[in-house]
Amino acid sequence: MKILVTGGAGFIGSHLLELLHKENTAEVVAFDNLSSGRESHVPAGVKLVVGDIRDKEVLEEVFAKEQFTAVIHLAAQTMVPYSIEHPDEDCDINLMGVLNVLECCRKYGVKNITFSSSAAVYGDNTNIPLKESERLLPTSFYGVTKMTSEHYLRLYYELYGLNATVLRFANVYGERQGAGGEGGVVSIFCKLLAAGQGVTVFGNGEQTRDFVYAGDIAAALARTVNLTGYNTINVSTRKETSVNQLLAAFEKAVGRKFEVTYAPAREGDIFRSVLDNANCIAKLGYCPKMELAEGVERTYQDYLKAYNKA
Ligand SMILES: NC(=O)c1ccc[n+]([C@@H]2O[C@H](COP(=O)([O-])OP(=O)(O)OC[C@H]3O[C@@H](n4cnc5c(N)ncnc54)[C@H](O)[C@@H]3O)[C@@H](O)[C@H]2O)c1
Repeated sequence: MKILVTGGAGFIGSHLLELLHKENTAEVVAFDNLSSGRESHVPAGVKLVVGDIRDKEVLEEVFAKEQFTAVIHLAAQTMVPYSIEHPDEDCDINLMGVLNVLECCRKYGVKNITFSSSAAVYGDNTNIPLKESERLLPTSFYGVTKMTSEHYLRLYYELYGLNATVLRFANVYGERQGAGGEGGVVSIFCKLLAAGQGVTVFGNGEQTRDFVYAGDIAAALARTVNLTGYNTINVSTRKETSVNQLLAAFEKAVGRKFEVTYAPAREGDIFRSVLDNANCIAKLGYCPKMELAEGVERTYQDYLKAYNKA
């Protein structure tokens, strides 16, 4: 089997490449324009093609040459606020880019595609834990392009028989996460605490998120490459964790008390967020398993190492 991982040099991509490289059951090629990804995230022995998913010519060249069996599409503009400011650019990368990849899959006989979608497709829906069957009503252009991409995948399956799996990730955190993307709070806290600073919490800290470790996301992604049909699967812990509970995990990881400032809640922030994961267990035979305390410890240590090197 030969797998293409677009966005392979990014945060989640780095965890996936590490896992696939370790498993050593498939040949893997990463494709990334290195806009937020890093070459150092790609393990030695994995081929990296530097290119943009908006560049049809380069993309076609890679597909024609490599003859992939499966594609895991992670490359994206990942910042929700950026999508609000730049809906055109978000659409260009997150929709036209997906379409270019899908067309190449069709043209070059790829059997499976996996798409990295997001809890952002659900919008402010409070019917938690959210099941995949819930109504989709995104509140950002990022969510809109993710939701629309899902429909493109569904139709590529229905019209062309391309096996397609949509994974909707909850709030992903872990080593090598950039501070700008979707994951937000864990990487922001890591950065500030590694620099010896305090942190600011917007609201009373009782707002909840479903924090899922990037290594668990990688394990779920790796299990999709042989799925048949069209599948939509949340990847989440199904556990609500408040920001105050997250702070307690950080206190242990950092090993000292630090200053926490509570500021007024931000307009538009969702108060509670958690995704159901029964479908993930049933279809992938996998349940994210990293405990928050250990995940935060690993992530913080990784930031600390990077901070001390800089
Ligand atoms: N991190 C999260 O919490 C989270 C949650 C839900 C969904 N996702 C999705 O998971 C995927 C991976 O996200 P991540 O957190 O690893 O972000 P990331 O920014 O670290 O990774 C994205 C990668 O795509 C590359 N890229 C961006 N635009 C490109 C383009 N035009 N052509 C080629 N490569 C391009 C970047 O260089 C980067 O390496 C994204 O699709 C994201 O929307 C992430």
